[in-house]
Amino acid sequence: MNETEKFVILGRMSAMLAHEIRNPLAGISAVTQVLDGKIDRKDPRKKYVTLIMKEIDRVNKIVHDLLDYTRDSRPYFAKADISSLIDKALATLAEELERKRIQVDRKYESPSLWIRADQDDIERVFNNIITNAIEAMEESGRLTINVRRDRAGDELLESVEIAFADTGRGCDLQDLAEMFSPFYSTKTRGTGLGLAVSSKVVEEHRGRMDAARNKDRGLTFTVSLPVEQPRSDTNIDKHQQGA
Ligand SMILES: Nc1ncnc2c1ncn2[C@@H]1O[C@H](COP(=O)(O)OP(=O)(O)OP(=O)(O)O)[C@@H](O)[C@H]1O
Ligand SMILES: [Mg+2]
Repeated sequence: MNETEKFVILGRMSAMLAHEIRNPLAGISAVTQVLDGKIDRKDPRKKYVTLIMKEIDRVNKIVHDLLDYTRDSRPYFAKADISSLIDKALATLAEELERKRIQVDRKYESPSLWIRADQDDIERVFNNIITNAIEAMEESGRLTINVRRDRAGDELLESVEIAFADTGRGCDLQDLAEMFSPFYSTKTRGTGLGLAVSSKVVEEHRGRMDAARNKDRGLTFTVSLPVEQPRSDTNIDKHQQGA
């Protein structure tokens, strides 16, 4: 059996397992929520219920990541504003960022840059990168997000580059080489699928994703995505109008 065949089988197995886990987990989750509603906030048993719910969330995340990683469905492409996708990802992590007093510097090129993207997928990519940055930083770290149009290529290959620089603990060269592999994690409670899923999504968008060590401290993750091409768009629109 060659590597590709092994991967296909592994993919099917994980997808099947993930599906099988999802249903009973939804049941456990529903019952736990009922329990939670019945237990008074001051009841010492409350903390056990909270713990169960947290662990359910964790299993849910693993299952979702696995399904994302092994699925071969096509992304749903639509016109998307890159800055608002980053802002949305930041908003869902606002509490965590605030708790750790992490300063976020947004340096977005204006006017807004548009891409054709599956918005949920790309937001998830940004969420994974920012979550990792938060996890790598101590209190009072700084996350700098740079968005700029990459004019280097020829006009038809123009892309937007989004760079996330953190002031976290960074990593050694070995980690840097391995971190995009599925199930590679240096965290006690990490699944190691965040970056693997993210780079798969970016590839589906004909983009690129890289990580590099900063000169002083921390890492920078760069995502490059092709910008929306007005010319080909006009063609698509004409098609849709039946012209
Ligand atoms: N910003 C960062 N700074 C330092 N190390 C990082 C950073 N981002 C990723 N890593 C390293 O890459 C590894 C893989 O990251 P990835 O997001 O794929 O998995 P994870 O965070 O360990 O688990 P999860 O599946 O929950 O995301 C991490 O365990 C960590 O060692
Ligand atoms: Mg992660």
